[in-house]
Amino acid sequence: MASDVSCFLLALLCSASCKVITSLDQMCIEKEANKTYNCENLGLREIPDTLPNTTEILKFSFNFLPAIQNRTFSRLINLTFLDLTRCQINWIHENTFQSHHQLSTLVLTGNPLIFMAETALNGPKTLRHLFLIQTGIPNLEFIPVHNLENLESLHLGSNQISSIKFPKDFPVQNLKVLDFQNNAIHYLSREDMNSLEQATNLSLNFKGNDIKGIEPGAFNSTVYQSLNFGGTSNLSVIFSGLQNSTTQSLWLGSFEDTNDQDISSSMLKGLCEMSVESINLQKHRFSDFTSSTFQCFTRLQELDLTATHLDRLPPGIEGMNVLKKLVLNVNKFDQLCQINAANFPSLTHLYIKGNRKRLHLGAGCLEKLENLQKLDLSHNDIEASDCCNLQLKNLPHLQSLNLSYNEPLGLQSQAFKECPRLEILDLAFTRLHVNAPRSPFQNLHFLKVLNLSHCSLDTSNQGLLAGLPDLRHLDFRGNHFQDGTIQKTNLLQTVGTLEILILSSCDLLSIDQQAFHSLGKMSQVDLSHNSLTCDSIDSFSYLKGIYLNLAANSIRIIPPRLLPVLSQQSTINLSQNPLDCTCSNVRFLTWYKENLQKFEGSEGTVCANPPSLRGLKLSDVELSCGMTATGIFFFIVFLFLLIILLIFVVRYLLRWRYQHI
Ligand SMILES: *[C@@H]1O[C@H](CO)[C@@H](O)[C@H](O)[C@H]1NC(C)=O
Ligand SMILES: *[C@@H]1O[C@H](CO)[C@@H](O)[C@H](O)[C@H]1NC(C)=O
Ligand SMILES: *[C@@H]1O[C@H](CO)[C@@H](O)[C@H](O)[C@H]1NC(C)=O
Ligand SMILES: *[C@@H]1O[C@H](CO)[C@@H](O)[C@H](O)[C@H]1NC(C)=O
Ligand SMILES: *[C@@H]1O[C@H](CO)[C@@H](O)[C@H](O)[C@H]1NC(C)=O
Ligand SMILES: *[C@@H]1O[C@H](CO)[C@@H](O)[C@H](O)[C@H]1NC(C)=O
Ligand SMILES: *[C@@H]1O[C@H](CO)[C@@H](O)[C@H](O)[C@H]1NC(C)=O
Ligand SMILES: *[C@@H]1O[C@H](CO)[C@@H](O)[C@H](O)[C@H]1NC(C)=O
Ligand SMILES: *[C@@H]1O[C@H](CO)[C@@H](O)[C@H](O)[C@H]1NC(C)=O
Ligand SMILES: *[C@@H]1O[C@H](CO)[C@@H](O)[C@H](O)[C@H]1NC(C)=O
Ligand SMILES: *[C@@H]1O[C@H](CO)[C@@H](O)[C@H](O)[C@H]1NC(C)=O
Repeated sequence: MASDVSCFLLALLCSASCKVITSLDQMCIEKEANKTYNCENLGLREIPDTLPNTTEILKFSFNFLPAIQNRTFSRLINLTFLDLTRCQINWIHENTFQSHHQLSTLVLTGNPLIFMAETALNGPKTLRHLFLIQTGIPNLEFIPVHNLENLESLHLGSNQISSIKFPKDFPVQNLKVLDFQNNAIHYLSREDMNSLEQATNLSLNFKGNDIKGIEPGAFNSTVYQSLNFGGTSNLSVIFSGLQNSTTQSLWLGSFEDTNDQDISSSMLKGLCEMSVESINLQKHRFSDFTSSTFQCFTRLQELDLTATHLDRLPPGIEGMNVLKKLVLNVNKFDQLCQINAANFPSLTHLYIKGNRKRLHLGAGCLEKLENLQKLDLSHNDIEASDCCNLQLKNLPHLQSLNLSYNEPLGLQSQAFKECPRLEILDLAFTRLHVNAPRSPFQNLHFLKVLNLSHCSLDTSNQGLLAGLPDLRHLDFRGNHFQDGTIQKTNLLQTVGTLEILILSSCDLLSIDQQAFHSLGKMSQVDLSHNSLTCDSIDSFSYLKGIYLNLAANSIRIIPPRLLPVLSQQSTINLSQNPLDCTCSNVRFLTWYKENLQKFEGSEGTVCANPPSLRGLKLSDVELSCGMTATGIFFFIVFLFLLIILLIFVVRYLLRWRYQHI
């Protein structure tokens, strides 16, 4: 008897666990019908039967497939992308991908590979991207070479590879990206590099290998797209090793934890013997930083000196005539003039952000940069009571200016007169004191994007945005309006060209019905994270076909008269509103279900009331309110029958009384 019970229990348990597995099968997420599936992290031990044969893109990482073979994926012959990251694969058997002629990307990252059969990759003749990161492979002989003629990128990071010598028959001719980062490569010989001779325009990554030696001539007369030797402790090795090479970009940055030698001017002499367009030296220190440091930089077009502990650039640097882009982020300048901008007369892009000290803008420090198009001065603690004409003098071609995340700036009228061609102006998270009745942005005829989010602006100033005839995109989030209301006359009326308006997190309680009437070109309005009720919906009656974000407001009931206003918009987000799912809102609820395609974020569009329906998706609400037509029909029939019955009863009673008189 006892054994019967335990058998029964066992059977129960077994069926329960079987259920779990089948339900897991079904949890693969369909991203695109019959084509794209995500089965990540489901503890699967095989390809679930529920995946259709037509699957093309499959993300299958974090499952359990210790050995894969020709049967494993045989059903999915149309795979083009297969991600098998961290599936504990040890063995890849013969012909595993023999029928997968379309496979172009195979990701085997994070699998402790012990064996990969010679014929493992037979089949995918068009394999273009192969990821073997963190697979423990010791050398390049491990990779089966057949059928890799079309390989464009090979990612071999974080293994134990010590030599980059490719086997003779390895087809390298189409390789464009070869990534060896974080391996144990310390020496590059000519022979090693010769095995890559046929690859042209290659991007070669040796970051984190700490190269200790390069045989002279190893890179002689070869052309690269990019070379990355990041984290090399002795850069002399690289500079002398790259003699006579040509590369578009050279990345020599350091890392926080590496204890590397300071860069000296004599080390940089090696740069004169090679051809480089763009160089990155981030996080290094210079032992002597003088104009001779720049001696071999004269052919550079881009120079990145992020976090190189600089407090000035030397004056009198000569010959930097082709430098277009200079990055000086995270340094220690006091004064903008300390970069001696006049040294770089052709500069078009200048980035000085995240300076470690408060940056003083000084006067006219950039006035020699007539060609400057983009200037980033964000996160610099800049403070100025009267910005910005003196500070940004003579920048006639400046198109993009970023002054976000700074300290308070005072703006007079026409504060950007010296940069009349501005198209993008970002002042986000910088408190602004507008000291003039007229607009500080007056006469920016080309300005298209203005970010004034979290600027603590005085929104009662009706002229704040005057004089911006081409403004398309205004980010105004996090500013406050008096009484939480956008009045009928408001500062938006002067910018009739607006297409995108962001007013989220402005503590808004209401919007006047006429507030947006002059904004006829609008295509997108974001009013999320305010406290608006349905009454403000009237203000969109002037707008048509817009994307309207009303998420996280206080909308409960939307009366029928407002449905036409919503109908004429293209996409609406009503998520995170305390929506009412009782009969008082039934017209809206019905309309919502008929117009589901109009709404985004339906997952978060849920009932808040009545308590019994709280959290239910609006699209799943079934309400029966009042009477339906059939209900009314039956009610009338019922009434009719009741009346007839009454007449009979009365007649019967009368007759009964009459008979008993
Ligand atoms: C997916 O495949 C099924 C069955 O073969 C077919 O009925 C359906 O139309 C396909 N869907 C798409 C979007 O191709
Ligand atoms: C694979 O793709 C081809 C071409 O698009 C198609 O004809 C074939 O039916 C597909 N096979 C499967 C199993 O989906
Ligand atoms: C898989 O390999 C086995 C043995 O090599 C072979 O018999 C079988 O036909 C192959 N299966 C497929 C689907 O190719
Ligand atoms: C999927 O492919 C397998 C093997 O190629 C075949 O047996 C099965 O019938 C196919 N399924 C469908 C739905 O076509
Ligand atoms: C080299 O590769 C880069 C990107 O990898 C590409 O933009 C460039 O056009 C290529 N140049 C040549 C000459 O093929
Ligand atoms: C480097 O290449 C140049 C020109 O192709 C050749 O003259 C020179 O001998 C080469 N140097 C070495 C060390 O192979
Ligand atoms: C660089 O090129 C010059 C001239 O072509 C040649 O004399 C020299 O040997 C080359 N240097 C190396 C290291 O290949
Ligand atoms: C750095 O490399 C250069 C050239 O290979 C060598 O002369 C120098 O001694 C090295 N410096 C150190 C500290 O190892
Ligand atoms: C301005 O800089 C901030 C912070 O560095 C950045 O988040 C923002 O995207 C930049 N703005 C523009 C328009 O690029
Ligand atoms: C300001 O808005 C612009 C345009 O949307 C955006 O590119 C930029 O990143 C924003 N700035 C910040 C600091 O978020
Ligand atoms: C709806 O708007 C909220 C708030 O802006 C946002 O978090 C959410 O992602 C939006 N939903 C969709 C589907 O974009």
